[in-house]
Amino acid sequence: MSAAVRVELTWPRHNVVVVGEQRYFGLERDGAVHLIASRCPHRGGPLHLGEVEGNGLRCPWHGNSFRVDRLCTRGVSTVQRGPHVIAYLPDGGADPVATNTMVLAQ
Ligand code: FES
Repeated sequence: MSAAVRVELTWPRHNVVVVGEQRYFGLERDGAVHLIASRCPHRGGPLHLGEVEGNGLRCPWHGNSFRVDRLCTRGVSTVQRGPHVIAYLPDGGADPVATNTMVLAQ
């Protein structure tokens, strides 16, 4: 079992969290915030810079589209308490950093 690290974001002020080399972005769907790894399954493109078109999220690198509902299903489960979004992410070997960065995939 791999180690996990607790992260807490103040949503929507913090829409991204970086843990080591991995970046996760928040995607709000049906009132719940999902944390999605910003790494395209094709070649690792930055999904947080993709665009939501209908039910799909289009990766900015090669244009593949991924169903948002599936991304959310594969995303990290969160618990929301007011504006706080809490999750446990794989430990990336560094303290998690919650930030606000340009995210198009919202
Ligand atoms: S890296 Fe995302 S479509 Fe190629």
